[in-house]
Amino acid sequence: MAGKTVLVTGAASGMGRATAHLFADEGANVAVTDLAAERVQTVVDEITGAGGVARGWVLDVTDQAAVDRVVAELVAEFGALDILVNNAGMVSGGPVDGPSYLVDFQRTIDVDLTAHVRTIRAALPHLKASGAGRIVNIASTEGSGATKYNSAYVAAKHGVIGLTRALSMELGEFGITVNCVQPGPIRTGMTADIPEEAKTKFARRRVPLRRYGEPEEVAQMTLSLCLPAMSFVTGANVPVDGGLLIQNT
Ligand code: NAI
Repeated sequence: MAGKTVLVTGAASGMGRATAHLFADEGANVAVTDLAAERVQTVVDEITGAGGVARGWVLDVTDQAAVDRVVAELVAEFGALDILVNNAGMVSGGPVDGPSYLVDFQRTIDVDLTAHVRTIRAALPHLKASGAGRIVNIASTEGSGATKYNSAYVAAKHGVIGLTRALSMELGEFGITVNCVQPGPIRTGMTADIPEEAKTKFARRRVPLRRYGEPEEVAQMTLSLCLPAMSFVTGANVPVDGGLLIQNT
């Protein structure tokens, strides 16, 4: 990864933070972006403190002008943009006839799906110039199956997988690979409120490896998909889920 520049969205927490760290450990220049300046700075300080190269930007991925500006600034700073990791995400739940459903649905699609298109559009000229551009979209096992009362998130994550496939068709001729990772249950900010007992019960029942995953285990797959050795892999959808999607009982 030495000399490569990577943009990670939602990089102040969970999988995004682990991904930013791992790319930096492997020698990449890392653009750490997230909603809150203080949390972004913490991750930048962690990386630079460990000898890595990182710079932080406050970035709300629902703001196209901000996305365009941050991409321009990080290219000015690092000289290129080779890898885009679309990781930022949120979850909203509730029945389809609930009072706030439509607002929540639109927000969830905006953050979890449309935002990927925003960053890809902004990054594309630079990924083309890179000669070996890489896009990794973070989907979910909810992109293949579904959980009751999670329809906005499920729709968004199914969309991420479709978008990944479609853009792998479109961007292949520019040498850009587009893949997605499907995390299963992972210990991050998003799952922090689930009581430990419920996590254990779920993992025992649903995950062949019988535990929640760690954000670093997902980051390893994201990094792998960006290695020069992965040059012929595109349009793939790789579960990192402890076997959850395989189990049929
Ligand atoms: P997390 O909550 O720890 O991190 C998500 C980050 O995204 C946060 O730092 C948050 O500030 C940021 N974010 C939210 N809205 C944003 C916006 N509009 N603009 C910029 N940043 C924004 O959660 P986690 O789990 O690390 O989430 C990362 C990705 O993994 C998400 O796409 C999520 O849907 C996905 N995922 C998570 C699973 C889990 O079990 N934790 C399972 C499957 C997928």
